[in-house]
Formats: sequence, C-alpha cells, structure tokens
Amino acid sequence: MRHWVSMFDYEPRELAELVTLARRLKAGETGDEAAALRGRILVMVFFNPSLRTRTSFEAAMLRYGGHSICLNVGGDTWQLEHRDGVVMDGAAAEHIREAAPVLSRYGDALAVRTFAALKNAAEDAADLVIRSFARHATVPVINMESAAEHPCQGLADWMTVDEKLSGTRGRRFVVTWAPQAKGLPMAVPHSAVLAAAAAGMNVTVAHPPGYELNAGILDRAASWCQGAGATFNVTHDQRAACRQADALYVKSWGSTALYGQPDEQKASFRRYADWMVTPDHIGPRTIMLHCLPVRRNVVIADGALDDPRCVVVDQAENRMWTQAAILSRVLSPTK
Ligand code: CP
Repeated sequence: MRHWVSMFDYEPRELAELVTLARRLKAGETGDEAAALRGRILVMVFFNPSLRTRTSFEAAMLRYGGHSICLNVGGDTWQLEHRDGVVMDGAAAEHIREAAPVLSRYGDALAVRTFAALKNAAEDAADLVIRSFARHATVPVINMESAAEHPCQGLADWMTVDEKLSGTRGRRFVVTWAPQAKGLPMAVPHSAVLAAAAAGMNVTVAHPPGYELNAGILDRAASWCQGAGATFNVTHDQRAACRQADALYVKSWGSTALYGQPDEQKASFRRYADWMVTPDHIGPRTIMLHCLPVRRNVVIADGALDDPRCVVVDQAENRMWTQAAILSRVLSPTK
C-alpha cells in the first residue's frame, strides 16, 4: 500500500509516469489502469471548502465506474481531533485514531483536505492532520491539499505545461507571489515548485522580502533541478523573473512572520499591491497558470485572466485526469 501524501515520497520518474498516464486517459486511452477504479469507493474528508478538488475527484471516480462519499468535518460529520494524548473536552467529538480505520473499512481509499492553521510555521510544515490519517488508515490516503503540500494540484500544473508547451524539460517556470485580501497557505506554491523541478524545468520563485517559502521544500526542488541539469533561483525582482518565463505561475501566500497579525498582513499586501499580475507581466509566448479560485483585480487583473495566454480552465480540467491517474496508481493491487 502506498499513500499519495507528499511528493517527497515519489521519485521524479514516478511522477512523470503519472503525468504520462493522465495524458493517455485524457486522450481516451482507457486501458488496465482505469479499470483499477471500477467498483471502488473513495471516501473524501474535507476540513475546508473546495470547488475543483471535490468535483474533479467525484468526476474521475464516476467516469471510470467507481463511487465517492464526501464528508464535511464539523458540518455533516463530527469535528476530528488529531493530537495524541489530549483530553477531548472541546469541539472535537472523535479522534482520527478511530475515524481513519473506520472509514478504511468502508472505502478503498481515503482522501483528505486540511489547510494550514497559519499560526505556527513549524507545525504547518509537519503536516500533522494528514499524517495522522496516513498513520491510522488501513487503505491508501490521498492528499487533497494539506498544510504543507497540494500534490494533486502540482501534478495537474505539470501536465498543463507539458501539453501547452510540448514538453517541460528545459522550460522556464516562474512562480510569482501576488497580493491577496488575507493570508493564505503555501501548499500550492510548494507543490508547483516541486512539480516543476521534478519535470526538469528551470525554476524561479519571485516574492517580496519576508515571503520565503519552506526551506526544506526549496532544497528538495533545487536538488531535483540540479539532477535534471536545470537551474533553481529565488528573486525579489518580479518584473525580471516574468520577462524570462515560458510558464508564469501566479499565487498568493501569507508571510509566516505575520501569522496571527491580520491587520499587519493586510497592510503588507497593500504595500505590494503592484505585484498584481497584469497583461504586461505576460510575455507574448508565455502561458499563465493559477490554481483557482482567484480574486480578480487583487491577485490577477481582468485583462490577464481574460487573455488567451491564460490557461487556468485547462489547468483545472487537468485536475480530473491527473487524479484519475493517481487513483489508478494507489488503487492498483500490483503497485
Ligand atoms: N485548486 C483547488 O484546489 O481548488 P479548490 O480549492 O476549489 O478545490
């Protein structure tokens, strides 16, 4: 049994195989791999809202003859505790130690969404909730975005660049920070950077001072770039980074130094309002990606989102194909 919790647990070669499979599924080549989903049940546990992730997983399961069950923690099911040894006299009526093995008896895989708390950077990096599910489940656990990573999104990002730019090796992939209305987690940029590095792209991350991503993620990405003969850079010069992009990935995230300080975080976003991406940031042959949802005219200007160089809808569609590939991988008895 193998979980899909972190890209750290996979070799770049294995990730590339998943992208290849996703592209074959999208092309209608439904072989033995898709049969792994037939008659199977996916239990999805959401601690946070979703439009794309929930729908694309359900669509992937239905498309290939499977079924899914969706639980919203604290809404249509109990609040769940993940810490060991605590006195459970608060909001949580059930512990993951029971919930994960029980749900494992009903489904063939468990998928979990649990965002970063944005209170303590070390705790967010440790990814405690999804790791508790992985420890106590007896079926594969799939990360539908956790505190530290969004590997399903990263794989769809890779697939999108691959199909739009006819390959990824040697392409210049630029992640640019953008302002927001409130602090957001780093899971998406982490996985975008890891996926781009695993795909052999030259990776640049542009952000203002104080918005550093997790050092362990950057180290792994730099190491994968080096292994592929590609470059890895971090810069505070957004304009210069955008000028050299083949694929421009726009994403907002909060500053760990401002966790617990919403007014200061908002003021910081206002200070860097000119990092909002406009059509001028996008080169003539550059594609622009964003994971969605996106706040128009805060993160990206209308003109850029409505431009043909913007590929966010195709990117969102690719969530379904890459997740079908991931499901095939974790549900296959031979893997
Ligand atoms: N990109 C993404 O994960 O979208 P949702 O939050 O709508 O699932």
